[in-house]
Amino acid sequence: MAVDTLLERINDYASRPDPYPLYAELREAGVARQRDGSYLVGGYYDIAALLHDPRLSSDRRNRAPEFAAPMPPQLSFIQLDDPEHHRLRGLATRPFGPPHSPGRVDAMRGEITGITEQLIASLQGRTRIDIVDDFAYPLPVTVICRLLGVPPDDEPVFHAWATTIIDSLDLTSGKDQDERTRAANRAREDMGRYLVGLAEQRRGRPGDDMLSAFVNAPEPAALTRDELAATAVLLLIAGHETTVNLITNGVLTLLRHPDQLDLLRREPALLPRAVEELLRYEPPVQLLPQRTPLTDLEVAGTTIPKGVPVVLVLASGNRDPQRFHDPDRFDPTRPDNQHLGFGSGIHICYGAPLARIEAQIALGALIPRLGTATLVEDPPPYRHSPVLRGPRRLPIELSPSRG
Ligand code: HEM
Repeated sequence: MAVDTLLERINDYASRPDPYPLYAELREAGVARQRDGSYLVGGYYDIAALLHDPRLSSDRRNRAPEFAAPMPPQLSFIQLDDPEHHRLRGLATRPFGPPHSPGRVDAMRGEITGITEQLIASLQGRTRIDIVDDFAYPLPVTVICRLLGVPPDDEPVFHAWATTIIDSLDLTSGKDQDERTRAANRAREDMGRYLVGLAEQRRGRPGDDMLSAFVNAPEPAALTRDELAATAVLLLIAGHETTVNLITNGVLTLLRHPDQLDLLRREPALLPRAVEELLRYEPPVQLLPQRTPLTDLEVAGTTIPKGVPVVLVLASGNRDPQRFHDPDRFDPTRPDNQHLGFGSGIHICYGAPLARIEAQIALGALIPRLGTATLVEDPPPYRHSPVLRGPRRLPIELSPSRG
């Protein structure tokens, strides 16, 4: 089949359970121009080099007019280039990590373990559970709410906005997609207003949460109202729509590989490496759809023109045999696992230390209980987005004694 339809075929919902053969086709082509004029890049070394190349912009305002899409009310730092990106990421990091808050994420281990134990306790005695709704979703949502200072009881409100935003992460263009993007931009605006409202309540009387820290930061570190809205929306969405897929993909992959599940039950010390292998083998962020070259770029012998959308298919780079031995094998003992699951370069995932701890604790608690578990549906039903890919539900049967 023609490689110029790969984007459409990846986007097709029927490809969601197993997009990997399409990525193999992409790697054969190296770089593939699509019918809509965009380019797909699928080789590990090409993607890694582009992620470090300042000539490839994350700012959609650099797109040629024929690729313009409705813009959000305010761009967050994931959608900006340096120096703006660097300034805002630095301010957003002050209450989250080094140099101002070293140990902040590590200090959450106890709390994350506590939330995990509560969730496990609530499953006691049940013989059928949905890994997504009963476990993998509530855990990161509760954690990001505590961290940001968002009342967990408001979950139904912000979940609806988050779903609208995630569902707009599609690879198609045209009128329907523009309408989805407009709906997502309205949701961003509503979520931003809500989060700024919460932050304002804490001006002058800070708690230990990040919204308090943002709104009470000393003058040179202060965010404007719009910057605060965009940053808080980014953190709430990124903090709760990605880790859920890492944990769920983890359970699915382990139940499909009973020998590896057994190995991890016997050797829990392998868990951090197993989480890295999951980020390689089934990455929750499959591709980065919003890069744009600032100048004509030569990639793997192809000239990608300035201003056209470039899609970096991280999940394809992660299965590149030029970089990983036997890449379609899930191997938690894999050495030298420099996967692209968290991206690379200046936009490398800000929340990676938190996501790693959450996944390690969550899977560490579940693995001893999965011995007799079976998948009810394989493949499970997937969520809409080909970008943030993961099961919508993952029902499993547990034996009552271990449940
Ligand atoms: C398994 C879970 C996660 C995965 C797979 C993931 C993946 C990624 C990837 C691939 C990028 C790079 C985007 C790009 O280059 O355009 C990224 C950026 C980002 N992530 Fe994550 N992420 C995860 C969890 C989190 C969490 C828990 C948070 C927040 C606490 C977070 C916050 C961010 C932010 C703010 C950025 C933008 C960084 C920048 O532009 O400098 N992520 N993430």
